[in-house]
Order: sequence, then structure tokens, then C-alpha cells
Amino acid sequence: MTLPAGHPLVDGRTSASLLVRAMRGDRPATRPVWFMRQAGRSLPEYRAAREGTEMLEACLTPDLAAEITLQPVRRLGVDAAVYFSDIVVPVLLAGVGVRIVSGRGPVVDEPVRSASDVLRLRPLDPDALAPIREAVGIVVDGLGSTPLIAFGGAPYTLASYLVEGGPSKDQLRTRALMVSDPHTWAALLNWCADVTGAFLRAQVEAGASAAQLFDSWMGTLSRGDYQKRVAPHSRRAFDALRGTEVPRVHFGLGAGEVLDLLPAIGAEVIGIDWRLPLEAAAERIGAPLPLQGNIDPAYLGAPWDLLAAHARDVMRRGDALPGHIVNLGHGVPPETDPDVLARLVELVHAEP
Ligand code: CP3
Repeated sequence: MTLPAGHPLVDGRTSASLLVRAMRGDRPATRPVWFMRQAGRSLPEYRAAREGTEMLEACLTPDLAAEITLQPVRRLGVDAAVYFSDIVVPVLLAGVGVRIVSGRGPVVDEPVRSASDVLRLRPLDPDALAPIREAVGIVVDGLGSTPLIAFGGAPYTLASYLVEGGPSKDQLRTRALMVSDPHTWAALLNWCADVTGAFLRAQVEAGASAAQLFDSWMGTLSRGDYQKRVAPHSRRAFDALRGTEVPRVHFGLGAGEVLDLLPAIGAEVIGIDWRLPLEAAAERIGAPLPLQGNIDPAYLGAPWDLLAAHARDVMRRGDALPGHIVNLGHGVPPETDPDVLARLVELVHAEP
């Protein structure tokens, strides 16, 4: 797949942006910053826009999804937008009954737990992604030279919701299926990789300048299982973007024990959670890749001086990297004061 001529990376709108430069291994004088989950409940304008609309309905209403995506860029001054949607949107568009329950997360009507359940999963019809393409088009027109980041859920994270039927602490049922029926497991993860790959591709074709895979629950896997039974499927999801030259970010929560396995999966940038200092993460990765991260979200609720000192420390630890994109180690907590986020963006931009 090659990008169309009017794509922001091709026509030059975003190719010299701080984000794209840092993701390609450059060190612009100002470091780019954005926040995972920057669009959402911490913003009063988000709560107002969402009033009376279900989460997944909001995701599939192009002008509403576009407006919510743009809100944090206007208010916080971040260097990128991240498309407002959810990792289960392509699952829904492939015909699986799923809702998002506030305060809980995605809940699946009929969990997928057997070979016959997996056989019933249908491929995602590319036409079903039309509302995604439309929303991304509106966002990209509104952003000008600010890049949009596409995202998708990693196959294991998606599979965990399908098998458990909802959020779970340790994904035990999911891992039980993985070890007891490897054939069904591989078929399920391939399906997840294909729907997430198609979702990422639709966002990139419609104008996103970077893409991130959220491997949120990989931290519950053993190293051996991650390497053998999960990583090949994450690679398959990333492969959906091969040939586009859009920088790809791989973010894994609790990925410390497998960081050295990530470069082979294919991303150009690795997202780091708050558990390891950046220089230690870089050493474990063992390849000179730009890193994204890793301000501990807990500091967003601490006195400003502590947050400021912590953010500066993160930046000093990122000084020697081939590229550094400042972010949190996980998503913005809903109770965060947006003024604190805006002040943090100013600090990052003022700091060498
Ligand atoms: O980062 C962004 O600003 C873009 C939007 C985004 C959302 N979900 C919007 C959302 C992104 C990137 C996601 C990814 C996502 N969704 C992940 C991976 C990232 C991670 O956090 O590790 C996961 C595991 C999900 C599944 C999911 N969806 C959960 C756990 C929840 C929270 C449920 C709750 O109410 O606490 C959701 C719902 C969700 N996705 C909300 C938003 C803004 C909240 C919906 C609301 O306003 O009620």
C-alpha cells in the first residue's frame, strides 16, 4: 500500500512536524509531546459533547468523533491528535455484539471461547470502515500541519475482551484457551490482527501520519508465550501498514520483560510505560530506536513542583535517545485537571 498524493505526509503538511521528525529518529530542538487518552473525560468540552450519546455511537458519528479528536489539540497545545475511537470499534464493525460500559470497559454479548465460536467470526468488510475514513478526513482538514496518530488494539488485548467477555485482571480464561487449544488460538489472533490491521489502514489511508498499536494487557503473559503465541500476530497487524512509510509505535503496558523482543515485531518507535527509566528501557531494547514516554500518570495528581521535576527527569533520561516523543506511561486519568496537562505541554516545549 502506498499513500495517496494528497496525504499530509506526502504533500508535506506533516512531514516536517516535530512528531514525525522525532519518530523518524531526528532530534528537533523542541521535543514533541502528546498524551495517550488525551481526548476524553478529563475535558469538560468532551463531557458536554458526549452528553446523551453512547460511547460507540459517538465513535461512529464522524463529525462528533472528529470534534472530540480536535478538542485536546486546541486546549492543550499538544503536537499531535490521536484519533478518538476505541480498540473494539473494528470488532463491532465486523459484526460482533459489543458495548462500552462506563467505568468498566468493553463488554461482549457472546464471548468467543471455542473453535466453533471462532469459526463464526466474519471478516471485516472494508466498506464498514466508511465512518472512520470520513471522521479522519474531517480531523485532518482541521489539523493543518499537526499530525494525526491512528491507533488499534494489539491482537492479544482484543482477544482478551472477546474471550473474557469483558475486562479482567489477569486474562486467565484467555490464557487457558491459548495453552489448551493452540489451533483455535492462532485462528482467533489472526482474526484480531486482521480487523485491527484494517482499522489502522483505514485511518492511515484517510490521512493519519503515524500509527500506534496498544498492547495493553501483554504484561500478564510469560515471555515464552508472548514470543511464540502472540508476537507473530502483532507483527501481522503492523504488516497491514507496510509500504506506507508512516512511523509505527508499539506501546506495551508491563512490557519490561520482553522489550528486547519488540524491535523484531516491526515498529519504528517503542512506547514505554512508567515502570522503567528510559535509559534502562533503551538498554533492554538493544536497538537504537526512538522512544515515546514515560511520565508516570500518578504525578498528574501531585503538586506541580513534583510533576515538573519528574517531567524534567524523564527528559534528561531521554537526552541520549535517537528520538524522544514525550508522553505519559499510560493514559490520562479521567480526574486529571486539564490545566495541569496544558502547563506540562508548556514545560516540555520550554525545556531543551
Ligand atoms: O487516547 C485517546 O485519546 C484516543 C481514544 C482512545 C479511547 N480508547 C477512547 C475511550 C484510545 C486510544 C482507546 C484505547 C483503548 N480502549 C485501550 C488501549 C489503551 C489502554 O488504555 O491501554 C483499551 C484497553 C480500551 C478498552 C476501553 N475502552 C476501556 C478499558 C475503557 C474505559 C472504561 C471506563 O469507563 O473507565 C474504554 C472506554 C473509552 N475509550 C473511553 C474513552 C474516551 C471512556 C468512555 C466514556 O467517556 O465513558
